[in-house]
Amino acid sequence: MRVGFIGTGEIAAAMVRGLAGQGHQITVSARNSGKARALAGEYTEVSVAENAEVVTNSEVVFLCLMADVARATLAGLPFRADHAIVSVMVDVPLAELHSLCSPAIDIALTIPLSPVATGGSMLPVYPASNALQLLFGESDTILPVNSEAALNAHFAGSALSAPLIALMQTGSTWLAQQTGDPQAAETYVAGVFAGFLRQMAEQGADFEALLKGLATEGGLNASLKNHMAETGSHAALVKGMDALKPRLGL
Ligand SMILES: NC(=O)c1ccc[n+]([C@@H]2O[C@H](COP(=O)([O-])OP(=O)(O)OC[C@H]3O[C@@H](n4cnc5c(N)ncnc54)[C@H](OP(=O)(O)O)[C@@H]3O)[C@@H](O)[C@H]2O)c1
Repeated sequence: MRVGFIGTGEIAAAMVRGLAGQGHQITVSARNSGKARALAGEYTEVSVAENAEVVTNSEVVFLCLMADVARATLAGLPFRADHAIVSVMVDVPLAELHSLCSPAIDIALTIPLSPVATGGSMLPVYPASNALQLLFGESDTILPVNSEAALNAHFAGSALSAPLIALMQTGSTWLAQQTGDPQAAETYVAGVFAGFLRQMAEQGADFEALLKGLATEGGLNASLKNHMAETGSHAALVKGMDALKPRLGL
């Protein structure tokens, strides 16, 4: 397929890496020029062009801009009725995208995260997008949701990533302070969680089942979990997710 990216930032670069090597013809925005040139240097199927040419050259256009830039940029681009558009942008609702990308009508919202570069990531989508399915359906899990509000709630879900990784980093730093080996501590902590996540995927376990297995009374896991609950960390997480609601229109 001929695939274009408007805005060659962090997430566009990850998506390009995820698509590379599959026979697609990929055009990326000249902005950001460092990232765009690096991608074109790395993959023969990637070329760099101005935004209008990206749109003209592509059957599928991924919108990977910050919201304010999107509002200033998209309306002047040569979208066609036969384009499939996929926006990864928070803060630009579907109705506004329809107006900015007119006359295109096949417009969907999704939420990639950086693991899309290597595959195996989750891609919630609303409404269903044939283009997203064709491009990422084999390498990643496409998760259709039933409303724009549900998609926006998944944006809040995706924001769990940094806090939970930061929590693992804090635990791993603590471990390293005891052992004197930061690298081994990080490998251990990451490996422990990778093991649980693999167990979920391979044995169909859910969070409740994993927690049950870790709930031995008086055990270290139970002690630390109770401490976290009693000191308000779970409530703080929920409060933080609630605080995202107004921005996400929830
Ligand atoms: N990062 C994530 O994990 C993630 C996940 C899900 C969704 N998103 C969404 O993806 C969007 C982009 O996020 P990001 O993290 O990739 O941000 P980013 O790295 O800042 O990428 C935005 C890119 O847009 C470029 N740009 C600015 N003005 C432009 C113009 N007129 N034409 C074309 N490109 C222009 C910027 O280029 P310059 O550097 O040259 O200014 C920058 O490289 C956001 O709406 C965000 O909500 C991000």
